[in-house]
Amino acid sequence: MTVLVTGAAGFIGFHVAKALLERGEPVLGLDNLNAYYDVKLKQTRLAILHAAKGFSLVQADIADPEAVTAAFAAHPALDRVVHLAAQAGVRHSMKDPHAYVRSNVGGQVVLLEACRRLKGLRHVVYASSSSVYGGNAKLPFSIHDRTDAPLSLYAASKKEQELIAHAYAHIWRLPVTGLRFFTVYGPWGRPDMAAYIFARRIMAGEPIPVFNNGDMRRDFTFIGDIVAGVIAALDRPPADDGRHPPAKLYNLGNSRSEPLPRYIALIEEALGRKAAIEHLPLQPGDVKETYADIEESRRDLGFEPRVSIEEGIPRFIAWFREYHKL
Ligand SMILES: NC(=O)c1ccc[n+]([C@@H]2O[C@H](COP(=O)([O-])OP(=O)(O)OC[C@H]3O[C@@H](n4cnc5c(N)ncnc54)[C@H](O)[C@@H]3O)[C@@H](O)[C@H]2O)c1
Repeated sequence: MTVLVTGAAGFIGFHVAKALLERGEPVLGLDNLNAYYDVKLKQTRLAILHAAKGFSLVQADIADPEAVTAAFAAHPALDRVVHLAAQAGVRHSMKDPHAYVRSNVGGQVVLLEACRRLKGLRHVVYASSSSVYGGNAKLPFSIHDRTDAPLSLYAASKKEQELIAHAYAHIWRLPVTGLRFFTVYGPWGRPDMAAYIFARRIMAGEPIPVFNNGDMRRDFTFIGDIVAGVIAALDRPPADDGRHPPAKLYNLGNSRSEPLPRYIALIEEALGRKAAIEHLPLQPGDVKETYADIEESRRDLGFEPRVSIEEGIPRFIAWFREYHKL
């Protein structure tokens, strides 16, 4: 039986695929290897997956119904899906809104259409985001809180993915689990995210952009904890009691709200260099604080974040230095 991992060339998809391969599960990756960030980094991740036994890749667009249908037809052993392919990035969603509608909203429908036709499909796990909580004042963010006031098109597209999944669970009784990830970082991380941008700029002697005077807090989650949560969710498809749709949602966060200056200080410490700071106003679409309530994730998935930023940042920086030979 094979797990389809969409976005397998991406940061989280790579780690999830690797962990599944390590526990002996065949993995089919699907990714379009788009150039939103350095394609070489995506290819290097894929080379590691290809070196493991049991990995194959379909290079295709998740929003292309024919390509996705063909991929499903060619792999009848698929029985579970981890759907991570998406156009990520809050700020970029102002520059290229259509990519979010196409890949995130359109891609969700294309994928679930293929899934509902697949005999023997056991579970679809897909990525949502802490950004669906918008500017909610009540902290920490609970899955019972309202999420109908997104601050960016990215957030709106992730909320839309949740709504579409719920409809498919209701109509087709498709077991689906959405995971709201909170700012994921770690080795093989994304070059468009803060840890990577800060590390690169500090090493280049360039100032780092800090928004809102650094008065921001984030729940930073180490990639290893996210992988453990994704796999725990995958192994626990929601039951269908015939009354409620078999659809679940969970927060996956470290459940600690850290001030941004603390995150920067740990990066400086790990690099052994001080950052020059360029102060900038809060960006449109950005939220001031995120903080995950993980009560349900603990209870249902046995999710327990283990890596603090004090441990995780040095691990990210060690990878960053090795990868860039710095
Ligand atoms: N990293 C985070 O902090 C974070 C936080 C919340 C949610 N998420 C979600 O987690 C998922 C994975 O994020 P990531 O950080 O690994 O991002 P990523 O950009 O590294 O990975 C996404 C992958 O999907 C691929 N992709 C994008 N559009 C595609 C399309 N139309 N067809 C096929 N492949 C496509 C990309 O090439 C990339 O390899 C995304 O759904 C993202 O929205 C991430």
